Amino acid sequence: MSQTPDKPRVLVGVTGGIGAYKSCELVRLLQRRGFSVKVVMTEAATRFVSALTFRTLTGEPVATSLWADEAESRVHHVSLAEEADVMTIVPCTANVIAKLAHGRADDMLTTTALATEAPLVIAPAMNTHMWRKDVTQRNVAALRARGVVFVEPGTGELACGDVGEGRLADVALIADAIEAEARRSRDLAGVRVLVTAGGTEEPIDPVRFIGNRSSGKTGFAIAEEAARRGARVSLVTGPTHLGDPYGCEVVRVRTALEMRAAVLARFDAADVLIMTAAVADFRPAAFAAEKIKKHEAPDAVPLERNPDILAELGERQSGVLLIGFAAETTDVVGNAREKLRAKRLDMVVANDVSDPALGFGTEANRVHIITPDAEEALPVLDKRVIARELLDRVASRLTPQKER
Ligand code: CTP
Repeated sequence: MSQTPDKPRVLVGVTGGIGAYKSCELVRLLQRRGFSVKVVMTEAATRFVSALTFRTLTGEPVATSLWADEAESRVHHVSLAEEADVMTIVPCTANVIAKLAHGRADDMLTTTALATEAPLVIAPAMNTHMWRKDVTQRNVAALRARGVVFVEPGTGELACGDVGEGRLADVALIADAIEAEARRSRDLAGVRVLVTAGGTEEPIDPVRFIGNRSSGKTGFAIAEEAARRGARVSLVTGPTHLGDPYGCEVVRVRTALEMRAAVLARFDAADVLIMTAAVADFRPAAFAAEKIKKHEAPDAVPLERNPDILAELGERQSGVLLIGFAAETTDVVGNAREKLRAKRLDMVVANDVSDPALGFGTEANRVHIITPDAEEALPVLDKRVIARELLDRVASRLTPQKER
């Protein structure tokens, strides 16, 4: 490969719009800013600018088709997807936005976009009416909710002769957005992050337990995002239906006591602990080894307190960045701030669970991020976007730690 491995790698996707010629300028600008650049084009894009132009600019083969066997196209979408630090699509048509919003992958560009774990920056360009259409805006919102960054089109004269919104954003602004994502994609390199997720189950007998409604989605999203940004992640999770996030050590536990043991065993090797788990505060005082029959059901199940894992670690004043979650229905900020103080935490993410459309089991949430000297209210966001926002704040508080 002719590319220098320590340069951030950006994959520029070009779709079929007149703005395609500006992608040539973008490629040059990104190279001047220290990126190594490869290009993937849709078939329609090649009608506006030839693959040879990009090949000449980048010195790399340009991917245009999943099938063609000429050297130009003998590039594998999976390797393109894996090696990119950032993928961008400039210009991006309404059609490609719609395909991405629905997970379609019917050519080299959309297949690569679906396969990549890299952040995606999209700069749309189209006729004003197409951009404003409800269906396009819904597709944009769906992609935004999944963490895709949009560089909004500007207003001006369009290729169709209209004047209005839909013009490709300024190339320098697009390059700025790509640079910001590239920085983010490495900002946790070498940091050891310990995440807990899900709810614990406290057994009454072999088939019954006391549990709660935590789905684990927020913790899994945080673990996955941290790993993507270069952190070494251990995820300790209670029972959940979610599959292992890519690139993390996953420890599956059941009870609060098992979770405590798994967290304690890893705490000394961590730089950050993010406790999203809904740890049961109580467990049945006795466990019946045999299933309790209806006719012998007790009138009450005596409970005893579980240890508070986070409070115990807060006591240690260890220097590990401690982040707790707080599920609240009333006085969200006040209650969360009290937890921050009582458990000696660096940050609490207060989870507003009063709205049944948000929180447990759903894809979105509205959170407040509280530190000893500040508080921020975030809007309703997809849990993956909340993960990104939280880790942005974690990254800015850490001096990146190298191997100890
Ligand atoms: N936590 C813990 N160990 C427990 C209980 C909670 O480590 N036994 C952690 C959770 O993972 C979360 C934070 O502490 O990060 C939540 O604190 P907690 O006071 O338990 O919050 P709530 O459950 O919301 O408390 P309350 O029921 O008092 O509102």
